[in-house]
Amino acid sequence: MLPPETAVWNFVETIARDVFRAYNFQEIRTPIFENTELFARGVGEETDIVAKEMYTWEDRSRAASEKGQSLTLRPEATAGIVRAYIEHKLGDRGLNKLYCIGPMFRRERPQKGRYRQFYQIDAEVIGPASAGSDSPARDAEVLEMLSTLLDRLGISEWNLQLNSVGCPNDRAAFNEALRKALDPVKDKMCADCQRRAVTNPLRVFDCKVAEDQPIIETLPRISQFLDEGCRQHFAAVQAILTKVGVPFTLNDRLVRGLDYYTRTAFEFTHGALGAQNAILGGGRYDGLSEALGGPPAPGIGFAIGEDRLVMSLQEKASDEKVLRKPDAYIAPMAGMNADAARLARELRRQDLIIELGDDSFRLKKSFEAASKTGAKYILIVGDNEIQADAFALKNLASGEQVSVPRAQLAQRIRGR
Ligand code: HAM
Repeated sequence: MLPPETAVWNFVETIARDVFRAYNFQEIRTPIFENTELFARGVGEETDIVAKEMYTWEDRSRAASEKGQSLTLRPEATAGIVRAYIEHKLGDRGLNKLYCIGPMFRRERPQKGRYRQFYQIDAEVIGPASAGSDSPARDAEVLEMLSTLLDRLGISEWNLQLNSVGCPNDRAAFNEALRKALDPVKDKMCADCQRRAVTNPLRVFDCKVAEDQPIIETLPRISQFLDEGCRQHFAAVQAILTKVGVPFTLNDRLVRGLDYYTRTAFEFTHGALGAQNAILGGGRYDGLSEALGGPPAPGIGFAIGEDRLVMSLQEKASDEKVLRKPDAYIAPMAGMNADAARLARELRRQDLIIELGDDSFRLKKSFEAASKTGAKYILIVGDNEIQADAFALKNLASGEQVSVPRAQLAQRIRGR
């Protein structure tokens, strides 16, 4: 990642942190690698992520207790955050709202918008049910926060796809129905689906093989199997979203490619992105803490694919508010490096972006260097200027030049 694009990354992360603060989220930083077992148990053995995409190795540590331990580069953040929740007893603090920004790793075939090292902006709301973590109000709040974040970033072309994938009760009946429906047709499907049909039939919906799609189209949908509790929970989420004015599209084929999901599942897609058009995905995971050996701790969260988000914001790379060019270039005349350094220090401490030249440059070279940086002004520092304590400030675009006393320079450069 190179400049000027990194300015767009910073823009995205700054707005995200700002929005998270308004909803009282706090940052957590989890390790880049953890025990393989955490992801296998958290994300699910039969998912593509765990079955095919993890970067896993055996530790060569000399300590007997660690020798041969299997470690994995994190493919996602949720499992690590829930592990930290359990390990540090965050449940004792009530409702936790945490976010994590950083690289994730999956061995996927790279293409536009899909990389083996990619970045996520992940946020989770997790806590004991007594703190309200299982309430549909949390689901709606998280989704509303996302719509606010996308609006603040200036992304308008998003579409929220919403589904409920039910709870373990519903899942048993659904899996049973799927097995039944798959049994007579699974031999016509790809090898992965033949295996999934037996071990974890829900994962058949992750299949991307074109020939399998007509069969998948005929399979039963989870919406037909939701129990009363899940139905009501889902209805309440939708009612709040409608009330607060967040538009959504119901999509009962959306099951998400990770095993931990329960009830609300969602994805935001972006029109202009092509095949990899999911800019973020998430959902509820009410049993994950228990699956990882912790106390009951219902939760909901999401991860934004930051690479994809940045791709949809390319025009920002030329936006002056995002990509701030130097306010001024200071050109020291011969022997004036020290005075120029002092002036640069003063102006930078007043929050201006200053590029400092060198007193070995002829004036012509200074002007060329100044234009190259895109600076608005060039500021010449010579003996006369120091004597007068006033500096020649030249607007590089208009050529207009004025002499400005030191004390007024910052204000003048800011255009006030
Ligand atoms: P996920 O759907 O696997 O969910 O990933 C979330 C987002 O990360 C995707 O929508 C996509 O934008 C981005 N992404 C995934 N893989 C790649 C890749 N190879 N290259 C570029 N971008 C990618 C999760 O990871 C869940 N942990 C989200 C979550 C948090 N659910 C609850 N809490």
